Amino acid sequence: MSYRHIEVRPVAGALGAEVHGVDLSGAVNADTVAEMRKAFLEHLVIFFRGQTLTPQRQLEVAGWFGAPMAYPQLKGLPECPMVTAVIKRENERVNFGGVWHSDTTYLERPPMASMLYAVTIPPFGGDTMWANQYLAYETLSDGLKKTLDGMYAHNTSTKAEVSKTREDRLKEAGVELKPLLGRHPVVRTHPETGKKALFVNCAHTSHFEGWTEAESTPLLQYLYAHQVKPEFTVRFRWEVGSIAFWDNRCAQHNPINDYHGYLRVMHRVTLEGDVPA
Ligand code: SIN
Repeated sequence: MSYRHIEVRPVAGALGAEVHGVDLSGAVNADTVAEMRKAFLEHLVIFFRGQTLTPQRQLEVAGWFGAPMAYPQLKGLPECPMVTAVIKRENERVNFGGVWHSDTTYLERPPMASMLYAVTIPPFGGDTMWANQYLAYETLSDGLKKTLDGMYAHNTSTKAEVSKTREDRLKEAGVELKPLLGRHPVVRTHPETGKKALFVNCAHTSHFEGWTEAESTPLLQYLYAHQVKPEFTVRFRWEVGSIAFWDNRCAQHNPINDYHGYLRVMHRVTLEGDVPA
């Protein structure tokens, strides 16, 4: 794919590309936005470096690609409520969302995309990884694909492993954790690319529809391990001013919790999605 307005440099074989040649704080024309969207669809997560964005400007930039939505269980920044701070403080041991997941799949309409902007980063560590869920699906055997195609899974906001990662922020915001449930196809078809992607994740998926949890667990555990194999992933080293913009419909992510004692602050905008099909 050729680009005339931006430079797109893939950073891993599976997914992820850095986009260069655009200053998101200034005027950006429609052709450049269209090329960024192409890069986003082709690479699943695109990265920018050296950007300077106020929360309001980040919201505007994210709005070029879709409709921003409030994060269901957190309050946003007081000055810009649709932007949420993702924080791990010096004295904390868990990081927000620190497990492989696609964002909030317990919603009926999980977000299509999320944009994270690095405000404060630790001197080392705190990278984020993403995994390509088209590849996860395509590399299954024909037999397993046939089994999974047409199946549904239930997703919940209350799985212990991930609830633990949000505890501090929810307490701070005085938000009560409400159980939310979403039922989605195990294999979804991306509404823009038409490609099939595996759509279960260990943070939120509880069981297959019509199966008990005990019956579902062995196959789900197999899929959880398969879908984040190293060859399906990219790992991004953040700098202040870096941005990652990813497609939750076909990629999972996992922020790595390896920087105890240091502050990490990111600003996040989430974009509305459709009902997975
Ligand atoms: C998230 O949105 O899940 C957090 C990602 C990160 O902190 O890198």
